[in-house]
Amino acid sequence: TQENKALFIIFGGTGDLAKRKLYPSLFRLFRKGAIGKHFAVIGTARREWTNDHFREVVTESIEELNPTPKEIDSFTSHFYYQAHNVTNTEEYVTLEKLASELNEEYQLEGNRIFYLAMAPSFFGTIAQHIKSEHILSDDGFNRLIIEKPFGTDYKTAKELNDSISAAFTEDQIFRIDHYLGKEMVQNISAIRFGNNIFESLWNHHYIDNVQITLAESLGVEERGGYYDKSGALKDMVQNHILQVVALLAMEPPTIFSDRAIRTEKINALESIRIYNEEEVKENFVRGQYSSGHLGKNNFVGYHDEKDVDPSSSTETFVAGKFMIDTFRWSGVPFYIRTGKRLTEKGTRINIVFKPTPINVFRASTQSEELPENILTIYIQPTEGFSLTLNGKEVGPGFAVDPVKLNYRHSSETLENSPEAYEKLLLDCLKGDATNFTHWDEVAASWKIVDIIRQTWDKETGAIPTYPARTMGPKESFDLLEKDGRSWVWEPDQWYREKE
Ligand code: BG6
Repeated sequence: TQENKALFIIFGGTGDLAKRKLYPSLFRLFRKGAIGKHFAVIGTARREWTNDHFREVVTESIEELNPTPKEIDSFTSHFYYQAHNVTNTEEYVTLEKLASELNEEYQLEGNRIFYLAMAPSFFGTIAQHIKSEHILSDDGFNRLIIEKPFGTDYKTAKELNDSISAAFTEDQIFRIDHYLGKEMVQNISAIRFGNNIFESLWNHHYIDNVQITLAESLGVEERGGYYDKSGALKDMVQNHILQVVALLAMEPPTIFSDRAIRTEKINALESIRIYNEEEVKENFVRGQYSSGHLGKNNFVGYHDEKDVDPSSSTETFVAGKFMIDTFRWSGVPFYIRTGKRLTEKGTRINIVFKPTPINVFRASTQSEELPENILTIYIQPTEGFSLTLNGKEVGPGFAVDPVKLNYRHSSETLENSPEAYEKLLLDCLKGDATNFTHWDEVAASWKIVDIIRQTWDKETGAIPTYPARTMGPKESFDLLEKDGRSWVWEPDQWYREKE
């Protein structure tokens, strides 16, 4: 592994994201030699912490990775803390001083990564100060990493983007969508563009419909306050689901580069049909979980969750149908659904192919059509793919039956595979933006989602409900049924839920 050189300046360095994701990911990169002698981290936040205390917190955050005392010492010695009020100009001057010193001391060649691990309402102020107080380095690179939520609609997203653009150019901005760091989401491109048997069929001539499910078994847990204002549409559809749609729908890039891929993804997202209100009502449904049970376990309804308004009409489930107006996808529905407290955790894509033109076995299959070929991509909790084909049933006569070619990555392979944040941090260090979202993607996604939200906001009737630990409200099943289709979903035999 080649060593990368950079100073990380983490705003929100005492926060949950930093502790849960960033420090452990940096440590993994350190262990692998992707960062070594030439890196330093400045953590900033309002609290008054000493370097020593900061290093203790970092040590705790990497405990699970079983570091040796020597590893702890050498890793944490690169961490520095500076109490910082993001609106106080003078404190940026101190920050710059420390940054320059560390740049010298660790020979960082002027490379700086700014990570904003805090509420987006501060992004603008921070960016302005970074610019006005000259915290950008003159040699080396300057890169900015930010996280969702990126606005709450197109308008606020644009304002946010304009405010950070005061200091950073689009090339320097790395917007994280952690789904793009997932192994099997990245694998979509390999499956499509590495296999002629799929890519040559990847269009409306051969594909009947595409189904994307992001099912969670958990409820809102500790995040009721945030979630109640957001809802599933903004929490999952605007970002993760539309990113997956883009990867499935985009045209093949001429070369696998960040520029080429992002250009194609932008085109795909901009080709998704923007509905009017009537079309939203026809093509999108929502739901909220009520109390329910699975086996002996009982689950409270959404209204009884912590920090949730008991009369809330926030959706915890969304299902819908996207249409993509391109030659490739004309008439092919992309059905999507996501929800909390569904039967099981399962993120999956089903590519449902059209049946053969005629069924020559119709005398024995007792139906006019053969079962469809289905390519399933398992994103999590198991990772791999399966392909359902029709074959002859063993025995006399000639019965035709579906068989499933099933592949999963082994748990051993996965143990050594980097976690999403680790991959994304390394990509950013290397300046590879493939797995980050471009502003034009964010803008297109909000435009698609805004009209759905606005339509729902005008509705006065009660939101449909579904019992906790079921696969969503009836409306979601009806949505496909009225098109003469149904959700393809079987329990994942390869998955054993941890007790
Ligand atoms: C986050 C959402 O972006 O993604 C959460 O805010 C959701 O509500 C999470 O639980 C799901 O991520 P994953 O990686 O567990 O599928």
